[in-house]
Amino acid sequence: MLVTSKELLLDAQKQRYAVGAFNTNNLEITHAIFRAAEAKQSPILVQLSAGALKYAGVEYLPMIVEKAARLASVPVAIHLDHGPSFEVVMTALRAGFTSIMRDASKLPYDENVAEVRKVVEACHAVGVPVEAEIGRIGGAEEHVVVSDREATMSDPDECARFVDDAGFDFLAVAIGNAHGFYKGEPQLDFGRLEAIRDRVSVPLVLHGASGIPDAQITRAVETGICKINIDTEIRNALIRTMQQFTRENPDQIDPRKVFAPCIDAMQAVVEHKMDIFRSTGRV
Ligand code: 13P
Repeated sequence: MLVTSKELLLDAQKQRYAVGAFNTNNLEITHAIFRAAEAKQSPILVQLSAGALKYAGVEYLPMIVEKAARLASVPVAIHLDHGPSFEVVMTALRAGFTSIMRDASKLPYDENVAEVRKVVEACHAVGVPVEAEIGRIGGAEEHVVVSDREATMSDPDECARFVDDAGFDFLAVAIGNAHGFYKGEPQLDFGRLEAIRDRVSVPLVLHGASGIPDAQITRAVETGICKINIDTEIRNALIRTMQQFTRENPDQIDPRKVFAPCIDAMQAVVEHKMDIFRSTGRV
């Protein structure tokens, strides 16, 4: 069933688990995410970036995801990942999204607040919750490329001020997480996460969770993370499985046969995340 992210994340916050927010770019990834959600009886956010909308067509992919959400036995929110502008946010609202991120974290504080407030006013008027970010998460995600030098951790006091000033619903934190695969083993700053959680009442979001060891994810969930974004590990499962399958079956040109093991591999990744996020069975 189609719901807003607020329903999902407030329950997660209360019951101390996290809901996975899985990026999709096409029909096959969407299938894998929904199959995992049904198999695990887990709530989900299915998220689309501006790049996904451009690639797959704003008229097509949201319709596929919305149809799947309405047919699903589990609660599903459709989320705009890293909304780069007010215009893209409006496009997503018109396309039926039930959750919006406005990412203006690269702007100075006052401009970030102003951009987020504008989006909050529009989204709240139609009952759609908003995620915002402060600090800068490193790595590359679609159009968002943040070098190690530019990446900055979220400051707990500034987080509290940001929530008050901009009035949004969920806060994405920078605590040593980065988009894409990590170069070494990531070390999340749990002291910083605790300090943010103690000063901020809205649910907290962890981006760049691909490649973070399970033990650190477990600790992040225990410390108060309620939404966890996964993209790279799904892409990796898709492409590596496709490479292996086409190497072993060079004459196979039926895309349905090629995609079948890829969907299975992506589903396995998503199911594992649901278990470590503790969202399995929470419907
Ligand atoms: P990964 O690509 O590291 O999984 O991060 C996804 C993400 O944070 C999307 O916003």
